[in-house]
Amino acid sequence: MCGIVGYIGNREALPIIVEGLKKLEYRGYDSAGVTFLRDEKIQVIKKKGRIKNLKEQIKSQGYSIHPEAGTADGIHIGMGHTRWATHGEPSDENSHPHLSQDNHICVVHNGIIENYTELRAFLISKGYTFQSQTDTEVVAQLIEYHYLTDCNNDIFSAIQTALLELEGSYALVVLCIEHPDFLIAARKDNPLIIGLGEDEQFVASDIPAVIEHTRNVLIIEDNEIVLVRKDVVNVFTIHGQIVAREPIRIDWDAEAAEKGGFEHFMMKEMFEEPKAVRATVAPRIRNNKIMLEHFPLTKEDILTAERIHIVACGTAYHAGCVGKGVIEKLCRVPVEVDVASEFRYKDPIIDDRSIVIIISQSGETLDTLAAMREAKKRGAKTLSIVNVIGSSIAREADYVLYTAAGPEISVASTKAYVTQLACIYLIAFEMAYIVGRLSEKDYLRYQSELLRVPEHIESTLAKQSEIQRFAASHFNAKSIFFIGRGLDYYLSMEASLKLKEISYIHSEAYPGGELKHGTIALIEKGTLVVCSLTQEVLLEKMISNIAEVKARGAVVLGITNEAHTKAAQACDETFFIPQIDPLLAPLVAVTPCQLFAYYMAVNKGCDVDKPRNLAKSVTVE
Ligand code: G6P
Repeated sequence: MCGIVGYIGNREALPIIVEGLKKLEYRGYDSAGVTFLRDEKIQVIKKKGRIKNLKEQIKSQGYSIHPEAGTADGIHIGMGHTRWATHGEPSDENSHPHLSQDNHICVVHNGIIENYTELRAFLISKGYTFQSQTDTEVVAQLIEYHYLTDCNNDIFSAIQTALLELEGSYALVVLCIEHPDFLIAARKDNPLIIGLGEDEQFVASDIPAVIEHTRNVLIIEDNEIVLVRKDVVNVFTIHGQIVAREPIRIDWDAEAAEKGGFEHFMMKEMFEEPKAVRATVAPRIRNNKIMLEHFPLTKEDILTAERIHIVACGTAYHAGCVGKGVIEKLCRVPVEVDVASEFRYKDPIIDDRSIVIIISQSGETLDTLAAMREAKKRGAKTLSIVNVIGSSIAREADYVLYTAAGPEISVASTKAYVTQLACIYLIAFEMAYIVGRLSEKDYLRYQSELLRVPEHIESTLAKQSEIQRFAASHFNAKSIFFIGRGLDYYLSMEASLKLKEISYIHSEAYPGGELKHGTIALIEKGTLVVCSLTQEVLLEKMISNIAEVKARGAVVLGITNEAHTKAAQACDETFFIPQIDPLLAPLVAVTPCQLFAYYMAVNKGCDVDKPRNLAKSVTVE
């Protein structure tokens, strides 16, 4: 949801900024721009469309964006932005950076300024005119207004004053023409990090933008302002008190955020699933025990909880749905799953006996973060499952269990999803064991099943050509239905979302038994129905549901294992996954669904890693 990169140092800034933006393109990709100081002027170059359009624009204005050729520009301070439109359509004018009226201040921003209409009206009354429809331009103008009036050319206090007037969320970076020796960055409810180098510093929305240059990273927190000089970085509260902050060391390298020979990040990330699940599970199972360090829940907490809530968005929400099925089955405690944007505003029934599990790959999804804060405010214990180390949700939750997926770049989540599931299983097994509802024998059996999941995913991936072939003959489908019962229904929801996200084919997920109550009206000759058939006790019922859709002309693809011959025979085509306890089947059965979505999208010529209208990290409500 908008990516920000800033640089100050001795090297040429433009190549570093543009390359950093490329790494953040997953955050938004409808337009991009850069700003820098040159000839004592703030220069701005921006362009609607992908970063390649911006690159062309930069080159056409005579600047270099290649490090080896870029010695002549003499640009050592600057910043850039890749946008996901909120206020104002994608256009050159609405692209960031935004320059203030008298050219003193330039701003890049991620987030939404909620009171921008009022601030804009105020500034218009002071003689300001606006070039764009964005909320960000208001920030640039407001800072300049204070800079030139009540703050007497003190840029730091002009920014402080302006920030205190803003309502909403922001990560922003400010360049001031009179201060070629520093950038100022600030954050509230949107991610912001500083990459610490030697005699050079980087500002960014996320680590992939800086990892090529440094592994030492300062995580900026809400209501903080950072003064970034090439040789020193100072963090302040919004009220100006100095904040002491230790950098964290990033333990993955630049290669982890590269495609590594795969055509798309999504494919690379699916192939990383076995490794990611292994890294998530193996270190947490030792001596036949699940070891969740500092796991905060006692038997009493679990048994006296009025219920367990799971809150998340998108793919993480679907992981939460599987979590509901698994936790309820094993722990016999009621679990409610909510989409974060609904949870927050429904006046949730939460008190200090509630347990709230928050799931988020990025750890920055604003709806999820806000829902977690609401739960904490009401006294709930919050446990989070997060991929990005040091992210807001990870820091603010009472407890965090990190998924070890590594950086996930493709907008459509794949490896993060399976590692979220892996964490859910670890938590569910542990809780069931703590409350005495899981026998020693089953506790051990589930551990060994979980440890074998990576090899099952490996053998599933090895058969990708079967899915590829199937997709090749179905990619013209107008509408596809995914059906399943129990955990298979939750799996179908994720399979359907994946297909929609990247191939733009209309698709719906339905519980197998529910289709006939209305939606079956949409089934006609040739309609593709994908059936998840992993829940043994529900197979007979699913076989009837398959017969119902086939009687109306549907073509059925079944995902099952070889032991389920009757279910397989009911389908037109079958993809076999390895045999696994049905409780853990979603962990293995999702990979063919992801492959299916991938190949459908590739066949349709879609931009798999950057689907239209989407962004990976949604930091607006
Ligand atoms: C966006 C992404 C989805 C993701 C969801 C939640 O909508 O496009 O892929 O599942 O946000 O993201 P989170 O980082 O909180 O898991």
